[in-house]
Amino acid sequence: MAKTTAPAPRIDHFFSAVAARLDLWRDLSRAAQAWGANPTSRGDAGLQAACQAALTAIQPLEDFQAYPGARVLNAIRERVAGGDAMGAARLVQRVSSALLSRSYRSDAGEFEAEDDADTPERAMPAAKTVGATRPYFEVLFVTPTPPSRWPAHAQQIRKLRRPEDEFVYEPVFVGSFEDAALAVILNTNLESVVIYDGFPYESSRDVPLLKSLLSSRLSAELKDRAAGADGVMLAKLVKGFRPELDIILLADKKPEAMISDPEAEGIRRVFYEVEEPLEIHLSILSGVAERNVTPFFDNLKKYAQKPVGTFHALPVARGKSIFKSNWIRDMGEFYGANLFLAESSATSGGLDSLLEPTGNIKKAQDAAARAFGADRVFFVTNGTSTSNKMVHQALLEPGDIVIADRNCHKSHHYGMVLAGAQPYYVEAFPMVAYSMYGAVPIRSLKKALLDLKAAGRLDKVKTVTLTNCTFDGHVYDVRRVMEECLAIKPGLIFLWDEAWFGFARFSPLYRPRTAMGARAALKEAFADPAYLERYLAQEKLLGADLDPKDARVLDTRLIPDPRKAKLRIYQTNSTHKSMSALRQGSMVLVGDEDYHRHEQAFKEAVFTHASTSPNQQIIASLDVARRQMELEGYEMVMQAIQLALEIRIAVNTHPLVSKYFRVLDVENMVPAEFRQSGLKSYTAEGATWADAARAFREDEFILDPTRLSLLCGTAGYDGTQFKNLLANEYEIQLNKTSRNSILLQTNINNTRSDVANLLKVLVEISKEIEGRLKSGGDEARKAFAARVKSLVEDVPDLPNFSHFHDRFRDDPQGTTLEGDMRAAFYMAYDHDGCEHLKLMSPEIDKRLLSGPPLVSAHFVIPYPPGFPIMVPGQVIKADTIEFMRKLDVKEIHGYDANLGLKLISLAALEGSSKTSKKAKPAIEKAGV
Ligand SMILES: Cc1ncc(COP(=O)(O)O)c(C=O)c1O
Repeated sequence: MAKTTAPAPRIDHFFSAVAARLDLWRDLSRAAQAWGANPTSRGDAGLQAACQAALTAIQPLEDFQAYPGARVLNAIRERVAGGDAMGAARLVQRVSSALLSRSYRSDAGEFEAEDDADTPERAMPAAKTVGATRPYFEVLFVTPTPPSRWPAHAQQIRKLRRPEDEFVYEPVFVGSFEDAALAVILNTNLESVVIYDGFPYESSRDVPLLKSLLSSRLSAELKDRAAGADGVMLAKLVKGFRPELDIILLADKKPEAMISDPEAEGIRRVFYEVEEPLEIHLSILSGVAERNVTPFFDNLKKYAQKPVGTFHALPVARGKSIFKSNWIRDMGEFYGANLFLAESSATSGGLDSLLEPTGNIKKAQDAAARAFGADRVFFVTNGTSTSNKMVHQALLEPGDIVIADRNCHKSHHYGMVLAGAQPYYVEAFPMVAYSMYGAVPIRSLKKALLDLKAAGRLDKVKTVTLTNCTFDGHVYDVRRVMEECLAIKPGLIFLWDEAWFGFARFSPLYRPRTAMGARAALKEAFADPAYLERYLAQEKLLGADLDPKDARVLDTRLIPDPRKAKLRIYQTNSTHKSMSALRQGSMVLVGDEDYHRHEQAFKEAVFTHASTSPNQQIIASLDVARRQMELEGYEMVMQAIQLALEIRIAVNTHPLVSKYFRVLDVENMVPAEFRQSGLKSYTAEGATWADAARAFREDEFILDPTRLSLLCGTAGYDGTQFKNLLANEYEIQLNKTSRNSILLQTNINNTRSDVANLLKVLVEISKEIEGRLKSGGDEARKAFAARVKSLVEDVPDLPNFSHFHDRFRDDPQGTTLEGDMRAAFYMAYDHDGCEHLKLMSPEIDKRLLSGPPLVSAHFVIPYPPGFPIMVPGQVIKADTIEFMRKLDVKEIHGYDANLGLKLISLAALEGSSKTSKKAKPAIEKAGV
């Protein structure tokens, strides 16, 4: 007797909707095939019933999709109910493969129940260009008309199609506010939403998570108005979930009145209901066309077709030096002619100048600003390493203080050296067990600002720079960080290094935790009178000028005075790390109310750092990456999350693999004190997306699910060894390791096959270990246990930043941590002013014990973990030496093992009147 295996409908699994849907179709297909192979099985408990149950499970998700549509679904339903096992199996199989291959996007025939149907549901006029396939998308129509009228309405919409249309779309209908929200979350093919006013609020579906999600998103006032099912409110909600979607509103009020409503911001067009349907059709198409345009790339393609004579200095342009060569033609064959046809050093002919863009690059940057929610965007062709340096230089003057995560990317440290700014290093929470750092607790940031305030140095603090998310996946509550810091200093500027996190803009889950997402939320909050009231209540309690000595200030969750706080936010992202840009493609996003104050400085910074020969292909890829994310980023990010979850589950539940390997979960990566929601795992039995969404809303730090730290020390491998094993033996590449782990990450490029391959490899390696231990006897087992213990338990303590030597501190009597790192950096250039000491020499221990202090001349950055354990001018303490002595990594930047540690000599340090001659500097006496 066949078992009914259809899973329960998973309509609430918002962030895995695509995979969940494919899985449900696969289940149905399997059930239908089984029945088709044994068509005589009928009745409630038979194969037919299993098929029926699988079909029922599919239904909730299908209501929000255009394909396969009501007609095909009805045909399947009829065949199942009527006992046509073969017919059902055939049709289900066809739909299932069309969904997988996405052939329905280009083949209208897929919308028919039978191949030879003579009344096509989705007749399409031929495209203007013969052979051209028009991109396909879906449009959501939210309407108060009864569902019985939707098929006719759909046909009317299809009749509007014209041969000259650039795209083809299919309509999807829903009839309530909640269903519209569901469709926007679940249908990844949507590009536009057309809202006819007058629909009800409640969905007839049972979706508790949606209801809780909506109630967390909608303010009470919004809910009241939504009860009246207001189109403007729905538009706002849709924009909140997926800002890239176009919204067209058909209002029953006068459009002029709607447009002046500030809530209507973001609606593409408002029509009076009686408007021409063709106008709506054209608005839909033009909205998508706007996102689809890639001003620079489009022009570069045109340029490549032109017969251009080049007399500038770039012999590869047009490829003649390559294709005519006797010796290097293979380069041309490998890359293809277009690469060379699209090479130029010209900034005319529409190619524009990256250094002073006024044409297509400017347009492409403006499009990126729209897509990423910034006021302006700068394209950078030398990676985020350069973007960071540009921003530091543009914002900082010598002597300005920067509150910086010591663990941040080296481009920040070097940026501060170049700008002459003084870093005030704050520490991320350590995760000693994995030799990693997390992120900087809000308390440490506030304490730094308050200490500086108490020392009378707050006016010197210009910026705060933090990495969001960190290499290992720690994501800040960006809004909270900015609110609390702005409460202490309203003019602070934030540089969020989102090198890894550019993609996050395109998921409603992540977006509030991005720099630009938080900026949008704060903009709205600052304009809300209720926020000012909250602030005034706080002011009553703590005063307008916060007292740094008042312990309550540190303990209170502060908000800034919205009348004074300014939103001055910069974000840098390595577009090449998480989107489809070529290597080194990076962007600087600017959302700075006072940008005009820095405009010239920003230009100078660009001139300082950008190459005068930027690579055209990188610029074009930035343009294209933006286009892709605006049109399909939502689905791609959703899939990257889903794959990460699949890896987490597969590794941690596989009976053999989980004996040796483990993907670290939320509770391992984020200490409980930072997990206000109490979430421990994304994948534990019973965990729902409601829990995850709550953690994303409430927790001080969350773990980006797509960043997977795989513990390999438990399999006897250190991170570097295991990384090499995967690369050399199994062709699996990754880039970060720790003492006992490697970091895997899923991105928009991964597929389920990658997951399957990874698991297969881990099974193979686990089997090999198992076999080795079995055949090696006691000795092998003991050696293995000792190796695991050394990797997992004997982990070195992570040293904190100590302090700068008094020589580099403006106020040697003071106790704040900032220091003039640039002065120390350049002292290292003076060969005679420096000395070397071997790491293992007893001289080091003697100096640690009784001085003179060891003062680092260089940045010393071991890989892994990749953060500077010494910076120029830093007094080196015993814990740093101990850490370094225990390090078993080969790559340590800034340190030459043959020479030893490079130190600034005492004589050089004493050459300054600032040097404190006291036995113990004030900063050490204060126990900082
Ligand atoms: C946090 C962070 N910022 C900046 C960078 C530099 O980015 P890019 O490689 O694009 O120069 C990196 C590189 O790994 C990074 O991890």
